Amino acid sequence: MTADLFARLTERQSSQEVMAEGAVLLRGFVGKAEAELIAALRDIVGAAPFRHMVTPGGHQMSVAMTNCGNAGWVTDRTGYRYHAVDPESGKPWPTMPLLLRDLAERAAGRAGFGGFAPDVCLINRYLPGAKMSLHQDKDELDFAAPIVSVSLGLPAIFLFGGLKRSDKPRRFRLEHGDIAVWGGPSRLFFHGVAPLADGEHPIMGSQRLNLTFRKIR
Ligand code: SIN
Ligand code: FE2
Repeated sequence: MTADLFARLTERQSSQEVMAEGAVLLRGFVGKAEAELIAALRDIVGAAPFRHMVTPGGHQMSVAMTNCGNAGWVTDRTGYRYHAVDPESGKPWPTMPLLLRDLAERAAGRAGFGGFAPDVCLINRYLPGAKMSLHQDKDELDFAAPIVSVSLGLPAIFLFGGLKRSDKPRRFRLEHGDIAVWGGPSRLFFHGVAPLADGEHPIMGSQRLNLTFRKIR
């Protein structure tokens, strides 16, 4: 490998972009964990398959979801909440693999949030056209801990606004292997994902997966 190529790879691996105060985009941070991460996801999805949940307003979400960890985020006609068992199977959610927890902890640390100990990982699957409307992550009890968000597969436009729903969101392109972290002053910022553009990712195919690590208690 030439010195020049090595320099560029290192640069890509460590490139960081500040999205707001307390919010950082770590480009390519997944790095060498990629293959093991994808294998671990396959096991989780085998035990707790993706499903389209229904919002309290009665709309079926375009994003399909599952979880791993001590609890999982669920929504149905009665509201949003964290639940210790998968309502589809009646069994506990799959355990959060150490590899995932470690990746999230390292990313949080890099973003300035040392000692992050997530207890839940919500896994979202976007097929082309799927989107996530602007919302705040506020079903957790502990807002001192950040949200750590890992992107795999097709690129997406992440919308990152402010504390008010009406704050105009900035747009960030999230690619395979990127990790976004938001906490501190931006922990409750409104965010969402624009409709996923069609495409084919060489490893993940025609989809985007997103993992958000949270500390809920
Ligand atoms: C979320 O806000 O839960 C998902 C964010 C994303 O898919 O990038
Ligand atoms: Fe969110």
